[in-house]
Amino acid sequence: MNKQKPTLLVTGGAGFIGANYINYYLEKYPNMQLINLDKLTYAGSRTNLQALESLENYYFIQGDIADEKLVNTIFSMFNVSGVIHFAAESHVDRSIKNAKEFVKTNTLGTMILLQAARSAWEKEGTLTKKRFHHISTDEVYGSLGEDGKFHEETPYDPRNPYSASKASANMLVKSFGHTYGMNVVISSSSNNYGPKQHEEKLIPTIISNALRGEEIPIYGDGQNIRDWLYVEDHCRALDTIYHYGKAFETYNIGGGNEKVNMDIAVKICEILDHMQAVKTPRSLDSFKNLITFTTDRKGHDRRYAVDDTKLRESLGWKPIESLESGLKKTIDWYVAQWDQTLQKSRL
Ligand SMILES: NC(=O)c1ccc[n+]([C@@H]2O[C@H](COP(=O)([O-])OP(=O)(O)OC[C@H]3O[C@@H](n4cnc5c(N)ncnc54)[C@H](O)[C@@H]3O)[C@@H](O)[C@H]2O)c1
Repeated sequence: MNKQKPTLLVTGGAGFIGANYINYYLEKYPNMQLINLDKLTYAGSRTNLQALESLENYYFIQGDIADEKLVNTIFSMFNVSGVIHFAAESHVDRSIKNAKEFVKTNTLGTMILLQAARSAWEKEGTLTKKRFHHISTDEVYGSLGEDGKFHEETPYDPRNPYSASKASANMLVKSFGHTYGMNVVISSSSNNYGPKQHEEKLIPTIISNALRGEEIPIYGDGQNIRDWLYVEDHCRALDTIYHYGKAFETYNIGGGNEKVNMDIAVKICEILDHMQAVKTPRSLDSFKNLITFTTDRKGHDRRYAVDDTKLRESLGWKPIESLESGLKKTIDWYVAQWDQTLQKSRL
């Protein structure tokens, strides 16, 4: 790695969206240099980036974004040309059980990154040029009734510790823009799905439990609505916003695929039922028979949906993947992982 060369700093790149983003970025810009700073919590895995480990323009640092000394050292050792900040504790259920790590990483960690970037870029006189892009979520806006969508101007109304810690981080990012003139941008996306997501999240849980022939747990009445965004569509949106989005602005990113959780589970089971490579458990006619309702999540937000007209009209982005095609790609990936696990267990 050339320490003088402009280098993008990505945080949380061993997680689901970050890993998809780094793979996408280095394929699209093979001459760019990138550092991935990731603590490798239970949610991060270097196998998500295995193919990149031997590249000279990719460098992995295991570390905590809330470690001020480490973060400052990275800014002093490398010519950091911009930051794309994914690192976070990301699972709502875990935040309900223990909020502390969420505030530490998502809020304090973001502030430490902002401070280090500001300090380094102010010294170089590049504060208004080099970009700090915070990856946020539509959950900061709260919960919707049957109608309407979240806009970029919708006031924050976080309703669980995860979304509260992300809303706080957004506010700090905005404050560094307003107070110091730092070139910040925020993107708030809806629920992502695709390859490399941790098994604890809804879609991987449905697929993995089905493949194991175990019950597929669905919270409450299964009627909570999410707008599903395929992760590679999200990566393209981030690339567009990072390069062309206006400083101090927020851009919402949606998938245009609002579905109740129960319909997602049924759709996945139907795809699995028709896959030749997958065998429906002998005692069942369909994977759908594995679906079971469980006690609802505390304070479960009923519906999220974002209006992303601003991104579509001002920057020309739109998702490519339909829910059907995105789910097929996602299921294919998990089935391939499952086959590898089975093969290893037979060795
Ligand atoms: N997954 C979604 O549907 C979704 C939707 C909207 C926004 N987001 C946001 O996108 C970002 C990425 O989400 P994801 O689903 O890929 O999360 P993830 O949980 O899969 O990955 C998070 C990554 O951050 C790392 N990390 C955690 N704490 C860290 C710390 N203190 N220092 C350094 N690294 C740390 C983990 O090791 C992991 O690799 C998050 O900021 C999340 O809030 C996610």
